[in-house]
Amino acid sequence: MAYDKVYSAWKADPNGFWMQAAEAIDWVEKPTKALFDDNAPLYEWFVDAKVNTCWNAVDRHVEAGRGDQIAIMHESPITHSTKGITYKELQTRVASLAGALRMRGVEKGDRVIIYMPMIPEALEAMLACARLGAIHSVVFGGFAAHELAVRIDDCQPKAIIAASCGLEPGRVVHYKPLLDAAIEQATHKPEFCVIFQREQEVAKLVEGRDFSWHGFQYGVKPAECVPVDGNHPAYILYTSGTTGQPKGVVRSTAGHLVALQWTMKNIYNIEAGDRFWAASDVGWVVGHSYICYGPLLTGATTIVFEGKPVGTPHPGVFWRIIQNHRVKSFFTAPTALRAIRREDPTGEWIKRYKLHEMQALFLAGERADPDTVKWAQDHLGVPVIDHWWQTETGWAIAGNPLGIELLPVKMGSPTKPMPGYDVQVLDEGGHPVPAGQLGAIAIKLPLPPGTLPTLWNAEARFKKSYLEHFPGYYETGDAGYIDEDGYVYIMARTDDVINVAGHRLSTGAMEEVLASHPDVAECAVIGVADALKGQSPVGFLCLNKGTTRPETDVIKECVKLVRDQIGPVAAFKTACVVDRLPKTRSGKILRGTMVKIADGEEFKMPATIDDPAILDEIATALGQLGYPAK
Ligand code: COA
Ligand code: AMP
Repeated sequence: MAYDKVYSAWKADPNGFWMQAAEAIDWVEKPTKALFDDNAPLYEWFVDAKVNTCWNAVDRHVEAGRGDQIAIMHESPITHSTKGITYKELQTRVASLAGALRMRGVEKGDRVIIYMPMIPEALEAMLACARLGAIHSVVFGGFAAHELAVRIDDCQPKAIIAASCGLEPGRVVHYKPLLDAAIEQATHKPEFCVIFQREQEVAKLVEGRDFSWHGFQYGVKPAECVPVDGNHPAYILYTSGTTGQPKGVVRSTAGHLVALQWTMKNIYNIEAGDRFWAASDVGWVVGHSYICYGPLLTGATTIVFEGKPVGTPHPGVFWRIIQNHRVKSFFTAPTALRAIRREDPTGEWIKRYKLHEMQALFLAGERADPDTVKWAQDHLGVPVIDHWWQTETGWAIAGNPLGIELLPVKMGSPTKPMPGYDVQVLDEGGHPVPAGQLGAIAIKLPLPPGTLPTLWNAEARFKKSYLEHFPGYYETGDAGYIDEDGYVYIMARTDDVINVAGHRLSTGAMEEVLASHPDVAECAVIGVADALKGQSPVGFLCLNKGTTRPETDVIKECVKLVRDQIGPVAAFKTACVVDRLPKTRSGKILRGTMVKIADGEEFKMPATIDDPAILDEIATALGQLGYPAK
């Protein structure tokens, strides 16, 4: 009932709904209205307001008497350290870093790339940019130099802030050589870099270009919060599309603040003084919204975790942290739970800790399979809440709003649309389909505050990717259905995006890399079902006529090429050589059919297939790789 009331209130008066939500933000100049639609189908929110993100995330809590509360708790089982930073300390550190950036010429609107592991300094760098109105773009540490170079060229940063290294279990990730290689490869050169030297590895600085984090701040005047317009870009976050060129999702400042603050109470039931933990990475949207900005906007304590669900050092690490820091709401990806379950199927590690302050477990990033949800529910004894969203939206499209009302859970569904989202399922012609029928999931425009207004420097691509296929709607790229009770079900992607261990990757980008191998004439990459990671990429290579080199050598080189070009996060480890790829008569590769064969699912022979016999060859090749998996 409560949810229905809130959702209907939004539907009846969206402007009133969001203006009321905006009351929770400290404005320098209040907005006069919520939606600005003069440029439809491009929409903007709270354009005529003036506001500062850092003020709302940090300074206002110090003013309100929360200065001594822990703002950021760093838990690093990899370095065996736990460290808290209060709101007052955070304010001092961020103002100082912002002051140093400004001294070197970073101003409102300048771009700054942040390439850092899971340390509090990553959040401080984000907040320092926000303090100045500089636009940050965080790049995930698992990407290789080439991916970083592509982002440098696209957003043209004045500065890059990085750490000397990241720490993966059993492996030091040498950030600095990756950064140097990326700058070397990129056409655009940043004016300077700031390097946070970690004690695990001290990097060599380039004279005149690189400054050390601490030395760079010596004697600078702390910076105050610079007001920006409501539609000023707060950040750019690159995400995978269909090609090797990632999409620069833009987040506007005011809508971001209003929406995230609203979600903290209404979706996660978190208020000032509570402890919230999203076990993701600052390089992903979950890290932006719910490690950094959301919890801090609300005056909660956020946990920054440098570790893995298993192996650092054991599968009880999540539960230990939840107990020790009295975490109230916890957010992770289903794949992390699958990893824990594999090592602790009967929940023995869970029983060792007191988890009574945890009220709910939130899951997102990939489809939450009912088996995993049930396992977690049985062993944790709290609601396990799946919610569905994307880098583009920045917050949940569909979820179960714990702070409003816990709706009955239906396994396999992220529950119902959140206020702001009119979710519809459309057929190919753009017509809504009846309840229970599969189709493309689209959202009626306008999208709510906090969602992307456009892509960085790519408005035409924004329109083409999201707005043109179904006029009047935003195309999510996901397929699924809505049942007769209004529950949303997300079943698959409609494009070349796959989801590996909760990481969004482009098979198109991997194909571009494979095609660059001198012996590869043609290739395809598909995402096959994986019991741990949800999906895993498998490559098919057709070699140039006359190639005499052993196939195993070419495969090894291709695996290395993807790791070197895209990064270890692509988890591209499996490929095979085939004579031909199955295609339609017009030459389109039948990747969907290949996936069905790999997953052992029934499929209809595509009517347009050029030569059905090729499917047998594909099945044989997959069989040799162990697919379909038992
Ligand atoms: N920096 C550098 N390398 C990274 C990295 C980072 N931040 N994150 C991952 N990698 C590397 C890993 O070390 C691994 O390298 P390897 O091939 O040398 O082993 C590779 O990228 C693949 O990583 P991943 O897919 O994460 O597999 P894994 O075997 O290391 O771990 C899980 C498996 C399930 C434990 C892990 O994927 C996990 O915790 N997933 C949850 C993901 C998540 O929270 N996503 C956020 C979305 S909300
Ligand atoms: P990202 O932009 O990296 O957050 O990835 C977004 C994509 O991940 C979505 O478009 C979905 O395909 C998938 N996804 C995220 N959350 C869920 C969920 N709860 N259920 C099903 N798929 C999800």
